[in-house]
Amino acid sequence: MTTSSALNINQLIQMKQDREKIAMLTCYDATFARAMDRAGVDIILVGDSLGMVIQGRESTVGVSVEDIAYHTSCVAKGLERSFLLADMPFGSFYSESVAMENAVKLLSAGGAMVKLEGAGPMIEIVDYLTSRGVPVCGHLGLTPQSVHQLGGFKVQAREAADARQLVEDAVSMQQAGAQMLVVECVPAPLGKEVSASVDIPLIGIGAGSDCDGQVLVMHDMLGLGEWMPKFVADFMPHSETIQGAFEAYVLAVREGRFPGREHEY
Ligand code: KIV
Repeated sequence: MTTSSALNINQLIQMKQDREKIAMLTCYDATFARAMDRAGVDIILVGDSLGMVIQGRESTVGVSVEDIAYHTSCVAKGLERSFLLADMPFGSFYSESVAMENAVKLLSAGGAMVKLEGAGPMIEIVDYLTSRGVPVCGHLGLTPQSVHQLGGFKVQAREAADARQLVEDAVSMQQAGAQMLVVECVPAPLGKEVSASVDIPLIGIGAGSDCDGQVLVMHDMLGLGEWMPKFVADFMPHSETIQGAFEAYVLAVREGRFPGREHEY
């Protein structure tokens, strides 16, 4: 349950200013949420990755707003301190009114902010939502909902022109009112450049150690992933309990030990 001691977006922005690294994980139920909250995880994301790790799909395409709302309401019950971010699934933000209607469902389920993938026309959607009171996090780089367009889960923005575009998109997202960004699977120097280009927290996944924070899918960092990409570390082998693995992750992120060079592109 979100209480008055819960982290808010101003505190997360302050963490960036203070160069205090932000630890974020995905989560889908109340029990794991309680353990993460106690371990000091700052942000918990009810990601549409639930389509793969909970529902067993091949991709995140096919996850519904109702799925995310259900898991958001479960996770919210386990929280006291962590900031709760809810993913807008594929097809849930193709127009301003559809995005607004679905964002309201996720905030009503307990989310403190919604996350949506992509730039281009999405920047106008972000502008529409934020000017109507919906807190938004943008998701750039590898956007798994576009996996079929991208031709697979691949590192993005390796070419200079694409990297320049990504930095411009990050700045445009901030100008449109986004208060946080996730950037996925890009070369580490680009993660650093994006972080320096915006005042809002940049949370990386496969984007190097110079992002303002890090996120991993819970199942991956517990060593349960079917396929472990290069950017994932398994925190279970050196922990006696799952709660201990969450604590080890938080500490490794805070101390800048995760991600290491071996996790970077
Ligand atoms: O859905 C998800 O879990 C995500 C993370 C990979 C950032 O978007």
